[in-house]
Amino acid sequence: MNPHIRIAPSMMCADLWRLAEQTQKLEAAGVELLHFDLMDAHFVPNMPLGLGMLEMMRARTGLPFDAHLMVENNDFFIEKLAAIGVQMISVHAESARHLDRTLALIQAAGAQAGVALNPATPLSALDFVLERLDYLLIMTVNPGFAAQKLVPSGLRKLVAARAYLRERGLDIPIQADGNVSFANIPPMVAAGADILVGGTSSVFHKDASIGENVARARVAIAEGLRLREEARP
Ligand code: DX5
Ligand code: ZN
Repeated sequence: MNPHIRIAPSMMCADLWRLAEQTQKLEAAGVELLHFDLMDAHFVPNMPLGLGMLEMMRARTGLPFDAHLMVENNDFFIEKLAAIGVQMISVHAESARHLDRTLALIQAAGAQAGVALNPATPLSALDFVLERLDYLLIMTVNPGFAAQKLVPSGLRKLVAARAYLRERGLDIPIQADGNVSFANIPPMVAAGADILVGGTSSVFHKDASIGENVARARVAIAEGLRLREEARP
């Protein structure tokens, strides 16, 4: 049975001047959730989106919200996001002083808890929070900015992450975040990614419409699933 690979448009890459229209186009294109990169200009030197945007959008779309925190004070944002009605919240292992407690806070607030790992961070950072993990976000670029290129270890890390989870009996989603391009989607899906954060490399690619880009991403996903099937022992 074909596992369901979900497309999560990276809203920092949307044309924020036409946000309502872009959101309607994303809904029409059939994306499964919306990815919001929340940055505090400390953990990463950028701040593209704010809480007010999520609050405003929450009342206007039924799509699930997936918040990726790139901040120093995770716990502050978790309470706010839960109150807004965000379904998924990931925090960076590198920024969480008390990662287990922070993940427990996310789950207690009723959201799915994810850990995000920077490219250089080993999977062993997850060793003692597996019981709290609803999904895993693998940064395939260094966090903070759109329009970057896949880091050299990106695909290798996705393969290792899927093996790491499988060896520990965890069949949870892996999110690929960063340069999820039409060319990178097949190997990312083949490696085991099942939530794709689509930014300027795919969903919001400047050379076509959102609908055309999402349709093209679906073709790339199908190719990735074929490669995954082929590689199955
Ligand atoms: C990077 C962001 C992503 C992504 C944007 O910090 O988390 O949203 O890179 O998409 P691309 O890489 O396709 O521009
Ligand atoms: Zn992100």
